[in-house]
Amino acid sequence: MVSSKLLFVLASAAVSSAFDPQLGYNSFVDVENRTIDEIYQAALKEGGTVTLWHGGDEKNQQNSLKQAFEERFPGMTLNVTVDLSKYHDVNIDRQIATGDVYVDSVALQTLHDYPRWKSQGALLPYKPLGWDALYKDFRDADGYYNGFYVLNWANRWNTDYVKEPIKEFDDFLRPEFKNKLILTYPNDDDAVLFAFDLIMKQQGGYEWFEKLLAQKPRWVRGSATPNTLISNSNGTYTASFTGSIGLTPSAPFNVSLPTAPNSFVSWPQTGAILKDAPHPEGAKLLHSYILSEEFQAARGGWSVRSDIDGPAGYPKIFDVPGTDVTKFSEFMADRAAVERLRFYFEDKIGSAQGLSPLEDNL
Ligand SMILES: *[C@@H]1O[C@H](CO)[C@@H](O)[C@H](O)[C@H]1NC(C)=O
Ligand SMILES: *[C@@H]1O[C@H](CO)[C@@H](O)[C@H](O)[C@H]1NC(C)=O
Ligand SMILES: *[C@@H]1O[C@H](CO)[C@@H](O)[C@H](O)[C@H]1NC(C)=O
Ligand SMILES: *[C@@H]1O[C@H](CO)[C@@H](O)[C@H](O)[C@H]1NC(C)=O
Repeated sequence: MVSSKLLFVLASAAVSSAFDPQLGYNSFVDVENRTIDEIYQAALKEGGTVTLWHGGDEKNQQNSLKQAFEERFPGMTLNVTVDLSKYHDVNIDRQIATGDVYVDSVALQTLHDYPRWKSQGALLPYKPLGWDALYKDFRDADGYYNGFYVLNWANRWNTDYVKEPIKEFDDFLRPEFKNKLILTYPNDDDAVLFAFDLIMKQQGGYEWFEKLLAQKPRWVRGSATPNTLISNSNGTYTASFTGSIGLTPSAPFNVSLPTAPNSFVSWPQTGAILKDAPHPEGAKLLHSYILSEEFQAARGGWSVRSDIDGPAGYPKIFDVPGTDVTKFSEFMADRAAVERLRFYFEDKIGSAQGLSPLEDNL
């Protein structure tokens, strides 16, 4: 009979020699055991820079992260570039393919990339400080990637022009919204595509979409563009459901979250460190900082940590009735289905027109 002590030794031997022949190296890592200040010192010694590519559709969208990080860690520079995740990922692929990786960390909406990059051996396994507090659904068990924060779409409108709050998606069919809706092309952004997928499943399919088209919405590129025009078009556009805004927005905005089960989009924006990152210590500092209670609680929106309360009086993300935060990664993983749906909408509303939302100054 094998003693339980021996079993433990055997088990840990098996774990610590988890050489992965496909990856070509040992895939087992422990959770970070240094303090944040020890990582900070290592990152300074390395050069004091970390290059992050973050998904998004306005150049300044991560300025608050940059500012918070650089204030917390004097001497560090967060060299962050925002672009559509679907463009960042193909450019990361190119760096990997040519062996010229100059980005340290990626934080993208394209959740299907992470398991692929992991299986290609392109990622550095790292379990940041705070990893144990992450919801299991938001972390790769081997530590190759994990959620940074939860992003979501919300209904929003200009209260100077819209007096009756919007609750569910049928409210966008009210006569007052004829010619007043401003929506992001679902065929330009997969998270917007997923919103239409969920709404049409919940609202009984194509009929709702036909009624929406009869409202003659304006279609734009970028999920942040509707907010700009809702706030400064003098009532030309008054409401949207594609894109996000803080859960406690300032005037003239109001916001609501649909409550029908699995009806609005939320997902863990997910981060990873590239295996050949030029600044691995800087990237480790960034990831550990992002998962810190300090950052997660201050950021607003829902946390990826199970020990932090929901924002603005909302319950934690897994207890919010109108969304299932695990579904977006499933949707994104089925690229053939995504492509079929994308072309379905492209056939109805045409291909996305206009400059990249990062260039259009809206
Ligand atoms: C911390 O982790 C490193 C790398 O996994 C390991 O070599 C080291 O022994 C650990 N130190 C402590 C004090 O646990
Ligand atoms: C900042 O990031 C860009 C790529 O996004 C890279 O070309 C540049 O070299 C980086 N700067 C530093 C100082 O690492
Ligand atoms: C909105 O109205 C203000 C004041 O009349 C005017 O200055 C501004 O140009 C208008 N904006 C648009 C987009 O029509
Ligand atoms: C905002 O909407 C909520 C309902 O979602 C409503 O109770 C509240 O009165 C609205 N506020 C304004 C300023 O319209």
